[in-house]
Amino acid sequence: MKLFLDTASIEEIRAIKRWGVLGGVTTNPTLVGRERQDPEHVWKRILDEVDGDVSLETTAVEAEAMVEEGRALAAMGRNAVVKVPMTPAGLEAGRRLTDEGIRINVTLVFSPAQALLAAEIGAYVVSPFLGRIDDVAGDGMHALRQIVEIYRAQGYPTKVLAASLRHPMHVVEAARAGADIATMPYEVFTKLVSHPLTDLGLERFLADWQQLRRELEGEARSS
Ligand code: G3P
Repeated sequence: MKLFLDTASIEEIRAIKRWGVLGGVTTNPTLVGRERQDPEHVWKRILDEVDGDVSLETTAVEAEAMVEEGRALAAMGRNAVVKVPMTPAGLEAGRRLTDEGIRINVTLVFSPAQALLAAEIGAYVVSPFLGRIDDVAGDGMHALRQIVEIYRAQGYPTKVLAASLRHPMHVVEAARAGADIATMPYEVFTKLVSHPLTDLGLERFLADWQQLRRELEGEARSS
């Protein structure tokens, strides 16, 4: 499973990229809005910084305008993937963009039925929002498992991108469920690496090492 960062912050992207685990980036209008800069500048900087796929979201509501916007977004970089919403207009625009060879990510997906539609239009990626399903007392992980099961049973090539992940166990369970990609905020990435026993263990190793050096230096001085 590839690990993606769900952000438009170039600082966060550079930090996780240094770990050598950054598979790609997903953005949405809310995340781009937080940067308080020209969206084109934000998108271009991310596309240049990241080797893997970068999802850029359309904001048009009508299909025709969405297609125009999608073409422009796709032309911004070889690694650009165009996000369209799971709406009738999004399906129409998504199908047309896919037919033009543009890779699309169908976003705002909350059910296996919607994921089925995304696969049928030939989407490159589908994004079920696990955390937001949980927020309304649903079971996001159950929906993800069903989507993976359907795609495998039907042989759909559409990749499953587990989105709206809120904590490390969401990521672990998404991997167990067979998701192709998990996208998460910077905070969740940092929680993945943290474990109190790692911190305690390292502290002990370093203390023991210092103790050994002190003893060896003492022996050297007395001989
Ligand atoms: O970018 C799509 C998705 O990951 C958003 O997550 O946390 O806003 O529900 P969230």
